[in-house]
Amino acid sequence: MKLAPAHRIHGRIRLPGDKSISHRAALIAALAQDPSEISNFSTARDCSSTLSCLRELGVSIEQQNGKLRFPGNQKLRTPREPLDCGNSGSTMRILAGVLAGHDLAAELIGDESLSSRPMRRIIEPLELMGARIEATDGRPPLKIRGTREPHAITYKLPVASAQVKSAILFAGLNAAGRTTVIESSPSRDHTERLFNGFGVRVDTSSDLSVTLNGPARLDGGGITIPGDVSSAAFFVAAAMLLPESDLVIEGVGLNPTRAAFLNVFRSWGADISETDLETERKEPVGTIEVRGGVEAKPRDVDRILSGAMIPSLIDELPLLAVVGTQIKGGIEIRDAAELRLKESDRLATTARNLRAMGADVEELSDGLRVFGPTQLRGSLIDAHGDHRIAMAFSVAALVAQGESEIRGSESAAVSFPEFFALLHSLTQR
Ligand code: S3P
Repeated sequence: MKLAPAHRIHGRIRLPGDKSISHRAALIAALAQDPSEISNFSTARDCSSTLSCLRELGVSIEQQNGKLRFPGNQKLRTPREPLDCGNSGSTMRILAGVLAGHDLAAELIGDESLSSRPMRRIIEPLELMGARIEATDGRPPLKIRGTREPHAITYKLPVASAQVKSAILFAGLNAAGRTTVIESSPSRDHTERLFNGFGVRVDTSSDLSVTLNGPARLDGGGITIPGDVSSAAFFVAAAMLLPESDLVIEGVGLNPTRAAFLNVFRSWGADISETDLETERKEPVGTIEVRGGVEAKPRDVDRILSGAMIPSLIDELPLLAVVGTQIKGGIEIRDAAELRLKESDRLATTARNLRAMGADVEELSDGLRVFGPTQLRGSLIDAHGDHRIAMAFSVAALVAQGESEIRGSESAAVSFPEFFALLHSLTQR
């Protein structure tokens, strides 16, 4: 994909459903006692992986007029084939939690990138709950033998991970007693909100523990998935960096454990407002409006992203590093070693591509130091098969001098197949 510099971003859009919420909504609808209907389901390839795994497990899913219908009261069966999770860590880890709490055996496989990602983080708690899981050196494929009567556990997460928390909570649905997960810092809380929205009470306490009382059966029902705020982030960033931009994104998820990047951009001087707040099954939804231009030099404290705020920025950090090259005084990201374990080593791939564009960046063991402001120059970018790197560097290409080429741009379809078409339609040169 070749990208020329842009003059401004202009338009009013709605986005396909949030990827994280879509995975969970599909799993909930598959397990629910009543029929369910999901509108605005994510178009991400990752979410198709979740649907095809569910079908392989015997779940009937009808796709009609852009909606997904689940009949309710389905029984999962032992799959005939391995369950292919593709590139999707959320599919593999959260589905492993579902399977751990069912009396069946299944194998979970993934693509090359997923096959290199760490799974001990789910194996340990799910085995404590009574499942047996075989892996190769802690990595996929996973052979899972679930149990009809998992044990309720209290588990302190060694790393902040919503996928691990969710795996334990899904397994906990079939466990008699209290299943509690204790986090070190708050990660995205979609599973908690949606369980509450579909009739299973999950209590969150101020000491960062979440508890559900099992066994518990989810209700079915309708949900319209909020637009994906992590997809919105790329357009918001492009609009704030291109001075005459005006962009409105309607119906987008504004869950604070996901939308924290908006506060960061505001602290860096961006003009961004959030309006029309509503909730959908306990998930906040609203409209984002961005007017282009970043004037201020941020306070030193705002230029450092670290500690407890990192999990709620986790998927946006490569993009924040790109934006950081345009911020007076630059920015610093710390406590983000988890980025090395994503679809690519995102600290390395971000640093390498930023340098290719002429940025001054230091790669740290747990983060990045990005100096700014810098005039980026158009360059050959390698997405390393990682959707968020492909999209973050497309934003960099818009503010660079000269043309850029994104090698591996097709990886964007993992979370956002419409990305380049939408970017072209919003961009004025
Ligand atoms: C996700 C959780 C995060 C995030 C991923 C989606 C989820 O991963 O990076 O893109 O849907 O729960 P971790 O749970 O590994 O932090």
